[in-house]
Amino acid sequence: MRRLVRETRLDPANFVLPLFVCPGEGIRRPISSMPPQAQMSIDVTVEECREIQALGIGGVILFGLPESKDEVASGAYDDQGIVQQAVRAIKREVPELLVITDVCNCEYTSHGHCGLIVNGDVANDPTLEWLAKAAVSHARAGADIVAPSDMMDGRVAAIRTALDAGGFTNTPILSYAAKFASGYYGPFREAADSAPQFGDRRSYQMDPANAREAMREIALDLEEGADMIIVKPGMPYLDIIREARERFDVPISAYQVSGEYSMIMAAAQNGWIDRDRVMMESLTSIKRAGADFILTYFAKPAAKLLG
Ligand code: PBG
Ligand code: ZN
Repeated sequence: MRRLVRETRLDPANFVLPLFVCPGEGIRRPISSMPPQAQMSIDVTVEECREIQALGIGGVILFGLPESKDEVASGAYDDQGIVQQAVRAIKREVPELLVITDVCNCEYTSHGHCGLIVNGDVANDPTLEWLAKAAVSHARAGADIVAPSDMMDGRVAAIRTALDAGGFTNTPILSYAAKFASGYYGPFREAADSAPQFGDRRSYQMDPANAREAMREIALDLEEGADMIIVKPGMPYLDIIREARERFDVPISAYQVSGEYSMIMAAAQNGWIDRDRVMMESLTSIKRAGADFILTYFAKPAAKLLG
C-alpha cells in the first residue's frame, strides 16, 4: 500500500555522477575523504562510464586535474586539456552516455581561485573570456551540456554568445545559479586539488544566509540564457530548491556535494547510521523538495539499490 500511494520516486535516470579525471594510464587514485571515489585516468574513466551507462544513470559531470597549473588557467580552455580529451574518449567509447562538463578555472589556476587575480582579488570580466573559451572547447570535444560553476556575473550570457558564435547553438547551459560559499565543499578540494591558496570564495559565491538573493541569481542566469539550473549544496538548501521550483519553470537540479556525502559515509563507517537508508532518504528529500535531477556521489550505489 505504501508503494501504491508513494509521492516521490527515485530513478537512476535522474542521477548525475561527478568524476575526477587525471593524467596518466591505468590510474585509480582513491580520494581518502570520499571513499570509494577516486581520481581516474581517462582509460579507467571510460571503463567506469560503461558501468554507469549499464546502471541506467542519467549522466556524468567531469572535473579535470591538469598536468600543470598556471596563473591564467591555460589547461581549462586547451583543446588538448584533460577534460577535453576525456570527453572525446567517452563519446567515442560510450556514445549514449550523457556527458556534462563543469566549466570553471579553480582546478587549473596555481592560486586555486575560480578566476583571474588582479590586486589580490578575482576580477570578474576578464574571467568571462576564459569561461567562454572553456565552454566552447568542451562543446567542440563533444560535451552534451556545459555547466559553469564559477559564479562570475554575466558568465551565462558570455558562454551563450560564444557557443552560438562557434556553431554550438544546440549545446545547453546548466548553470550553477545558486551556489553558496559552503563549508560542505571541504572534501572536494582534495578530490579536485582546487583549494584556494589564499582567502576564500566569499567574494563570488553566495552567503548561506540569503534566500531572496538566490532567487535573483537564478532569474538573472535564466535571462542570460541558462537552460537548467543547479542549487548547491543540496540538503542544507532544500528551501531554496522548493522556492525555485515554485517560481521557475525550467529543469532544476541540486548538487549533493562532497561534504554531504562524506558525512554520511563517515557516520555509516562508524556504525552510527545505516548508509543505504540515509543515502536514499537524503536523495528522496532533495527530490521531494522539487529537484528534477541530482548530482550525487551516491549515483552508483543508489542506482544498484533501485535496480
Ligand atoms: C568549483 C567547484 C566546487 C564544487 C564544484 N565545482 C568547489 C568550490 O566551489 O569550492 C564543489 C563540489 C563538491 O563539494 O562536491 N567551482
Ligand atoms: Zn571554481
